[in-house]
Formats: sequence, C-alpha cells, structure tokens
Amino acid sequence: MNTPPIALAVILACGTVGSLQAGEQLSPAVNYQLRCAGCHGQNGMGVPDGGIPPFPGFIDGFLATEKGRLYLMHVPGIGSASLSDAEISGVVNYVARRWGEPDAAVQAFTPDEVNVLRAKPVKDVVALRREVVVEMRKAGKSVPDYPWP
Ligand code: HEC
Repeated sequence: MNTPPIALAVILACGTVGSLQAGEQLSPAVNYQLRCAGCHGQNGMGVPDGGIPPFPGFIDGFLATEKGRLYLMHVPGIGSASLSDAEISGVVNYVARRWGEPDAAVQAFTPDEVNVLRAKPVKDVVALRREVVVEMRKAGKSVPDYPWP
C-alpha cells in the first residue's frame, strides 16, 4: 500500500517532536524561529515603524557595555520567554553572531551571566534603552532608527 505524501509528512513531523526528550534543549536557531522571528523577522530587520528595532549593524553595540547587556536581558521577548538561562544565552549569542560584525569581538553571554542579569530589577526597560543609546552614541556606535530612541 502506498502512503500518501501528506500522511507521510505528518508521521515524520510527529516523529521529530516525539523524539524530543523532556528537558532536552532546542538549538538556538530553532528557538530564534519559535520565540523571536515573529517580531524580529527571519532577516533580523524587525518592524522599525511598529516599534521592533533591527539587529544588523547595531546589535554589537548593545553587547559592548554592562548597561547594554543588562538591557538585553530585560527586552520584552527575553524577559517574558519561558527559556532557561542556557537557552537565552544560546539564542542571544546566535543573534549576535548572525547579525553582528564578524570582527566585532563581542563577549558571548554565559548562562551564569544571564542568571545574574535577569535577577536584577529593571523598572523601565524603555528608559534603560535610552541610557544605553546615549552611551552607544558617545562611543561613536551607530544606533537604529527607531521610534523610541
Ligand atoms: C512580542 C514581540 C517580540 C518578541 C517575540 C521578541 N522581541 Fe526582542 N524586542 C522587541 C521589542 C519591542 C524590542 C525593543 C524594546 C525597547 O524599546 O525597549 C526588542 C528588543 C530586542 C533586542 C535589543 C535591540 C534594540 O535595538 O533595542 C534584542 C537583542 C532582542 N529584542 C532579542 C530578542 C530575542 C533573542 C527574542 C527571542 C527569544 C526576542 N527578542 C523576542 C519585541 C520582541
């Protein structure tokens, strides 16, 4: 008997999901697709008019300072994501690698740093971003054109 292609696709898809063991981590690229791409886009360009800033050309500047790193750990999509510290360091490092400059030499996040920074209270993330942007401008870094600079 021939299995119709659509049924085969369903069987394969179920097999993939079923083979994930409890507690097994998804790769950073998959987490980006599932948790981030809906807002930030496949190409990392975001929707600047809709209040989602683009990554290419700018992301390195945010990783370069203490305040920027604290900010990143409190952006909406990360603060609310039910991801482990290891998954968060993985997906943010993935974003930085994929859309940062190849020679930027930014320091990757470790799960421990994620844990420490997430535990620090940040009352107003938009206000914190403004402070980070001031630092970035002073350091001569480019800043995305974005409605809440
Ligand atoms: C519901 C939409 C949404 C989702 C989902 C989302 N983000 Fe965001 N992200 C935003 C918004 C809005 C900002 C800007 C926040 C601000 O202005 O303070 C932002 C900012 C950022 C920034 C800083 C860039 C900048 O210019 O300020 C990074 C890095 C980032 N997000 C990464 C991620 C990652 C990684 C994920 C997935 C784990 C994710 N985001 C999921 C909406 C989202």
